[in-house]
Amino acid sequence: MGKQRVLSGVQPTGNLHLGNYLGAICNWVEIQENYENFFCVVDLHAITVPHNPKTLAQDTYTIAALYLACGIDLNHSTIFVQSHVTAHSELAWLLNCITPLNWLERMIQFKEKALKQGENVSVGLLDYPVLMAADILLYDADRVPVGEDQKQHLELTRDIAIRFNDQFATPENPVIKVPDPLIRTEGARVMSLTDGTRKMSKSDPSDLSRINLLDPPELIEKKIKRCKTDPIRGLEFDNPERPECNNLLGLYGLLSGKTKQEVIEECQEMGWGKFKPLLSETTVEALKPIQIKYQEIMDDQDYLNSVLREGKEKAETVANHTLARVKEALGYLAPF
Ligand code: AMP
Ligand code: TRP
Repeated sequence: MGKQRVLSGVQPTGNLHLGNYLGAICNWVEIQENYENFFCVVDLHAITVPHNPKTLAQDTYTIAALYLACGIDLNHSTIFVQSHVTAHSELAWLLNCITPLNWLERMIQFKEKALKQGENVSVGLLDYPVLMAADILLYDADRVPVGEDQKQHLELTRDIAIRFNDQFATPENPVIKVPDPLIRTEGARVMSLTDGTRKMSKSDPSDLSRINLLDPPELIEKKIKRCKTDPIRGLEFDNPERPECNNLLGLYGLLSGKTKQEVIEECQEMGWGKFKPLLSETTVEALKPIQIKYQEIMDDQDYLNSVLREGKEKAETVANHTLARVKEALGYLAPF
């Protein structure tokens, strides 16, 4: 038996932050040896909210290079750009026609994003989770490693797969593989530096709310110096009154590789004045190797292009196969 498949992706909107890194990509890197992995840069998703055509291509390169810089290994994983494999758009259309509208209207992320945008909400924003389902189902993915915020979209993906099989296949011969989420407990929800009750997000208007993987050391220090804390003495995890404290200690643990217990023993007596420089230094050190590797990759455009060209070919072979199976089940006349 071959290895199980993994698929995941990140949007090329701005650069990655610690939430993306600790919630998603670290997990990809940790598990990659045990699976056959496909990691895409989901550029079709990036235009579901107003975007800048002048930066989309460059942002796509940035995310692909960051995948590599964070430790995605081409011996185990394929890196590709979503829009390079046209089967994603095509399967999204086919799945649109079997997905009930009210399943999409229920999506929390849609409601949140639509609220932020007011009048100007596109059909694409509503349809975003169906495209995501297409991404996953095209690769017959067994597992989908994502942060906690994507759980509802994965449940929808499962529901769409099950509905398709119910309508167009038999239980003995399902056409679409039903995937499982893979959400790790630690790091699944990294919170904002300016509000410990909200998740760290690319779309937060304040850059001070997040640490980006490519932030220079001075900026990281500044952001941590300014981040929200509280006036209570000592540091602790899991006090609902102290969301910022929980988040910052959690970040320290994840970035230093220390367990919760070790962090508590080291930090419980500390004040913020002592803890913040420690967190800054740890963050800068953890990101340094990623930043160096990133620069090397970005300086070698030919290499990056070849990674994406090869990725497209590998991804396309698998995706086209699944698409053909789905079209056959739907009764399409095959091209001659
Ligand atoms: P996005 O930036 O929305 O394309 O998200 C890419 C990946 O990062 C997804 O797997 C998300 O679940 C994950 N992610 C985004 N923000 C956070 C966060 N604040 N904490 C943990 N994971 C996150
Ligand atoms: N919606 C995901 C996010 O914002 C990104 C994404 C698109 C994705 N397609 C995917 C994640 C397929 C996993 C699998 O985080």
